[in-house]
Amino acid sequence: MKRRNFVRIAGGGIVMTATVSTLGLAGCSSVMPPEAIEAWRGPAADVALGPDLRRWLLSYAILAPHSHNLQSWIADLSRPDEIVLRCDLQRLLPQTDPLSRQIMMSHGTLLELLDLAARERGLRADITLFPEGTFGPDKLDTRPVARIQLRPDATVHKDPLFAQILRRHTNRNAYDLQRAVPSAAWQAMAAAVQPHALRFGQVGVEESTALVTHRRIALEAWRIELTTSRTIMESFDVLRVGSAEVVAHRDGLSLLDPMAVALARLGLLDRSKAPAPDAYATTSQVKDFAQKLDSTPGFLWIVTEGNDRVTQVNAGRAYARVQLAATAHDVAMHPLSQALQEYPEQDKPYAEIHALTSAARPGQTVQMWARVGYAPPVEPAPRRPMQDFIRS
Ligand SMILES: Cc1cc2nc3c(=O)[nH]c(=O)nc-3n(C[C@H](O)[C@H](O)[C@H](O)COP(=O)(O)O)c2cc1C
Repeated sequence: MKRRNFVRIAGGGIVMTATVSTLGLAGCSSVMPPEAIEAWRGPAADVALGPDLRRWLLSYAILAPHSHNLQSWIADLSRPDEIVLRCDLQRLLPQTDPLSRQIMMSHGTLLELLDLAARERGLRADITLFPEGTFGPDKLDTRPVARIQLRPDATVHKDPLFAQILRRHTNRNAYDLQRAVPSAAWQAMAAAVQPHALRFGQVGVEESTALVTHRRIALEAWRIELTTSRTIMESFDVLRVGSAEVVAHRDGLSLLDPMAVALARLGLLDRSKAPAPDAYATTSQVKDFAQKLDSTPGFLWIVTEGNDRVTQVNAGRAYARVQLAATAHDVAMHPLSQALQEYPEQDKPYAEIHALTSAARPGQTVQMWARVGYAPPVEPAPRRPMQDFIRS
């Protein structure tokens, strides 16, 4: 029986039933390599004390959430007191994010953390979005996303959200269904979007019918993503299995499960093709995701009027603030982007989540949808060395 599972996995995907001991590979465990997550210790001493504060600011900014942890940020420091933020066009997600909306949000998250860090050091960050003109609706190009001019300003206020930057992590664990998100935490999340003109919505345990609908849409969208070969392959392409791959890339999605690592070492983890819809690798992931959704006591969403590039960046800024505000209350968060994605297979869940969140008018866009609750803590996600982001 175990042998049969093992072979099926070898032709399939990333979730498996056989145990490590079945394979005699108990020694093949894998842990997060410390160098992959060194950024989470805060700025290195030489950066903290160095003359160029921009590196200190960036050491916090690169801890921003980014879709698929692609870290598609380039910071041009060639002009003094200025950072020009560009998008690394080699780090896009053309299948799951065909319009690069999430990539733009992921630049907004970085800008927000940069702004919080600047305030902390008594600097005003004057951020000009798309200083050479905005990207069109379909494609990005080499023009900058933002120019950030930094000036000392005694009137800027520190923001308490700064203190949460090193504590914030995306948490994909099962949540505690018995522990509702308290109204104080919801209020803090709602208040956190304030600087931006967008709508924050949420649902908690008291609305059990709505919760069921949120879970159903999220699960269906996840099943679609898993069973559409080009979209699941996009995730496989950035899947880093085991500490050696994690440390070599320091980006993407980390898989450190000892069993997966053992199979990969044996050359039995096939990432070259998508598992079939009825393969165990697919059905077990759907089941696992359903359990996580069923454990979830709350969902939130961020809706914008319009969906131009500036709006997308600002939605990312708002999301970063919401997650930091949740972190201050020890509330965990896990974005659910599948139903928001603009590829045709998602049309139905896309329409359903827009209707459910009263965002069905033309132009209204659900920019972020996330599950929210209490969960065991997770390890930080890798970040590339700061030097990788800098051009000077
Ligand atoms: C715009 C955007 C969309 C995201 N969508 C998802 C998602 O659908 N599923 C998920 O597990 N994480 C999602 N994330 C979270 C990223 O995967 C996460 O930020 C990244 O892996 C880095 O981990 P960290 O947030 O713990 O630093 C999203 C993040 C952003 C900014």
